[in-house]
Amino acid sequence: MHDGPGPAKAWGGVFSVPTDRRMEAFSESVSYDCRLAEDDIAGSTAHAQMLAACGIISAAEAESIVATLAEIGREIAEGRFPFSTAREDIHLNIEAVLTERIGDAGRKLHTARSRNDQVATDLRLFCRRAIDRLDAGLTELQRSFLDLAERERDLVIPAYTHLRRAQPVLAAHQLLGWCEKFDRDRERLADCRKRVNRLPLGSAALAGSSLPIDRQHVATALGFDSVMANSLDAASDRDFVCELAFAIALAGVHLSQWAEEWILYSSEEFGFLLLPENFCTGSSIMPQKINPDALELSRGKSARLVGNLQALLVLLKGLPTAYNRDLQEDKEPIFDSIDTLEAVLGIAVPLVAGTRFNRDRITAGINRGHLDATSLMEALIAEGVPQRTAHETVGKLVRTAMDRGVSLSDLSDEECTSASSAFTPAVREALGPDRAVARMQSYGSTAPAQVAHQLTRWKEKLADEGASSG
Ligand code: ARG
Repeated sequence: MHDGPGPAKAWGGVFSVPTDRRMEAFSESVSYDCRLAEDDIAGSTAHAQMLAACGIISAAEAESIVATLAEIGREIAEGRFPFSTAREDIHLNIEAVLTERIGDAGRKLHTARSRNDQVATDLRLFCRRAIDRLDAGLTELQRSFLDLAERERDLVIPAYTHLRRAQPVLAAHQLLGWCEKFDRDRERLADCRKRVNRLPLGSAALAGSSLPIDRQHVATALGFDSVMANSLDAASDRDFVCELAFAIALAGVHLSQWAEEWILYSSEEFGFLLLPENFCTGSSIMPQKINPDALELSRGKSARLVGNLQALLVLLKGLPTAYNRDLQEDKEPIFDSIDTLEAVLGIAVPLVAGTRFNRDRITAGINRGHLDATSLMEALIAEGVPQRTAHETVGKLVRTAMDRGVSLSDLSDEECTSASSAFTPAVREALGPDRAVARMQSYGSTAPAQVAHQLTRWKEKLADEGASSG
């Protein structure tokens, strides 16, 4: 980025001395807000066309502006644009080059506009595009989980609470649980998008304009759902940035939880999952290591998503009404959140697709931990035993089994019937992890029929979404 002798400032008229170079370096944002170029050009194009439609500039002037902006857009995309930090930000960089090329028509572009409403508009367009990409990434991830769930639809695995063996579930049930979380993340993004998609442009610096502009014209051209109603609020509102940072942070926390779980499940100690080796890395000293770094980094990167959200909230808390330069500090955190979540999704999708369950190892250990105790308790309840009594009865049987180092199903009929007269052969049918799963029936449970229903629902939902977005 060029930082040579500074060109005349767009705001230079009132100043009697040039800006100190240290101040230029401190206040520039073009080194990162150059990422808004595409959106800045879209916003300026719509603005120029509106100015012409309202008779504020001529049609020929608008045409020249629009054509030159398109040319500048191509140069930026190809890395041929002469960015200058002395020109502060993306807005002034583009406008200065535009004016160098077309003269007075370029000097008219900023009519009835301020960088305050301009940057707010650009950032909304940028966030809107990001939301659509993140939604597509989360959908891809849901598809990967769904595919794995379908491949493993009959496998029974232990599920944990407090990281202690709790009850048996179908692997598919657990995998679809992740689809639910990512679906809520997508809902939050879609909800946030509604508030992103409102037009601030035309608020000018803070008070609006005395020129006869048509804000709805711009909103329609840029695909905004509505025009923001208060110029003071519109030029400075960054709620949408916080909302997006939150939606991203929570998605990142979900991905971190998933990563933590799979780090455990793929460890030698659990041995449930076989991660794809091409997404693992080794150790430079221990030759045997195959490490789950993709998962660890996914877990680790969630930290900065939470930090970015915090930075944005703290940035806003002290600001009085309307634009304050502090707001320039909104960009790096939200850019980083978007980039980071995209990067994690980009690795999570192929990682899930390449992961296999170690069925032999899971099945060999499925009888450990008395996963069927709750099933047995519910069978006693079905015979009319009060829940508290059934709980205590089964608790004592578990203690007996633990003392003897056996499973509940290894206990004799006498041991069971002496614990409770409600013990019939039918009650003992509830024992065994497979049977415990098969006996489930409530909506949303791990019952095979319920899981089959959910697999179908997800298949239909994700196929529809593929059709509508593609
Ligand atoms: N680069 C600035 C930002 O990102 C643009 C708006 C500057 N406005 C101003 N009055 N200095 O916030």
